[in-house]
Amino acid sequence: MFRLDQKVALITGAAAGIGAGIAAAFARQGADVAISGRTFSKLEQTRNEVSLYGRKVFCVEMDVTDTTQVKKGVSAVEKEFGRIDILINNAGINHPAPGLDVTEENWDLQFNTNVKGGFFLAQCVASIMMRHNWGRIIWISSQSGLVAIPGQPAYCSTKGAVIQLVRTLGVEWAKSGITVNSIAPTFIETALTKKRLENPEYRSYVLGKIPSGKLAKVEDVSAAAVFLASEEAGMVNCHTLCVDGGWTAW
Ligand SMILES: NC(=O)c1ccc[n+]([C@@H]2O[C@H](COP(=O)([O-])OP(=O)(O)OC[C@H]3O[C@@H](n4cnc5c(N)ncnc54)[C@H](OP(=O)(O)O)[C@@H]3O)[C@@H](O)[C@H]2O)c1
Repeated sequence: MFRLDQKVALITGAAAGIGAGIAAAFARQGADVAISGRTFSKLEQTRNEVSLYGRKVFCVEMDVTDTTQVKKGVSAVEKEFGRIDILINNAGINHPAPGLDVTEENWDLQFNTNVKGGFFLAQCVASIMMRHNWGRIIWISSQSGLVAIPGQPAYCSTKGAVIQLVRTLGVEWAKSGITVNSIAPTFIETALTKKRLENPEYRSYVLGKIPSGKLAKVEDVSAAAVFLASEEAGMVNCHTLCVDGGWTAW
């Protein structure tokens, strides 16, 4: 179960963290992968790791906030593999600022990356998936789209928007064999959270909110992504799968 043989996956933000973990897990399950990020050279480490599984790896430089680069990147992947079956909309940023301090620039940057970027990429990839009548679009949203995390209203709003996008696009594209879902992780130690989690007070606030008292790991998210990308998850649509150890339950 949950094999991804003969599938082609495009994963954004794959240079490190969650994106790199998903790329490796997908290759392990048999998929060929296109990995993307803003800087080509930063993809090298993921390329080497993924290559160990003997699958094809293709690197694409693409800033998701630039729709011209997105179109170019998608057509390069299609040219390389002839199809794209799975899209992982993982690229994202978090620039925390409390409500009174959020600037227009901070707001726009987070929305352009986390919402607009992923949306136009999904739009571009969905038209390719529709030709094959099969597709899996998976966003890495966040528990922050479901509950309030004080000090980051803009980020939380972007993730709430993603969760709503998943519902709407999932309904629109279901008849074309495409499912659209998201994964909402709790805190994982990556470049995105490192600084905040190094603060002992913040770390203990976070651990106190997770019933198991443990942070999530990249592998927890990769496993959820493999499931949602698989043939077996065909009836799972418009859903946000929490990988949060129970944070959002109370
Ligand atoms: N870590 C957590 O606790 C956590 C929890 C819930 C949700 N998430 C979500 O999970 C996703 C991955 O986060 P992570 O923790 O793995 O953080 P990360 O290590 O900082 O990875 C984020 C990736 O996004 C890419 N990126 C940023 N802006 C981009 C842009 N404009 N165009 C293309 N790529 C861009 C970066 O790649 P380059 O710099 O190479 O371009 C980076 O590799 C994000 O959407 C995040 O919101 C993370």
